[in-house]
Amino acid sequence: MNSVKHVAIIMDGNGRWGIKYKKSRNLGHKEGLKTVEKIIKASIKNKIKYLTLFAFSTENWKRPKKEINFLFNLLENFLLNKISEFNKKSIKLKIIGKKNFSKKINDLLNKSEKKTIKNKKLLINLALNYGSKSELIHSFNNIIKNKKSINEKNISKYLFTQNIPDPDLLIRTGNTHRLSNFLLWQLAYSEIFFEKKLWPDFNEKDYNKILEKFKKIKRNYGNI
Ligand code: IPE
Ligand code: IPE
Ligand code: MG
Repeated sequence: MNSVKHVAIIMDGNGRWGIKYKKSRNLGHKEGLKTVEKIIKASIKNKIKYLTLFAFSTENWKRPKKEINFLFNLLENFLLNKISEFNKKSIKLKIIGKKNFSKKINDLLNKSEKKTIKNKKLLINLALNYGSKSELIHSFNNIIKNKKSINEKNISKYLFTQNIPDPDLLIRTGNTHRLSNFLLWQLAYSEIFFEKKLWPDFNEKDYNKILEKFKKIKRNYGNI
């Protein structure tokens, strides 16, 4: 049986859910946040150490301003309301991606990371303004700046996910079969699960089913 240390999730399908049930993409994002809470709880129950959630990509800036503002308002409220609970549950928050938001959001993100830095049970990597290609460029530039050689160890060391094991599995909800510039280096040997359900409909039972399936997979890493 494989053990699960690190789960990465592309939380896709909020917009379509919102249009289908509430005639509003934004209400889909709001509903999707409830799934985030459920999956965090279920991850702790399953003793998962690392949970990496794709919340906003470097490409998502192409969306209408109204939707982007709504998303960052949701994020702001979420962090303001949840950090004390994160501390109670020993959840550490780390942002992966470039923090070039408004000063208000940047300050809140830094403060939230700082307040939870000592927590040990679950590390949540929240991917915000995250793009894998830009992360790799950032890594290469740091290698050059520090006059190090280009090798696997150094490339990994300068990624935003430094010091944590690569994801054991990736889940993408929303019935779309692509990576959308997420963790291209780190997913080299992850097991990938594409889920038909839209993110707001995804639940603990669906998650547990995927985890059980994962545990039984024979992972070869090129061997036989
Ligand atoms: C994913 O849901 C959440 C974000 C990208 C912020 P989408 O908003 O992409 O939902 P769909 O894919 O349009 O349904
Ligand atoms: C990926 O979803 C990004 C997040 C879930 C945050 P998108 O909905 O942005 O992906 P594409 O554009 O359809 O590939
Ligand atoms: Mg989408």
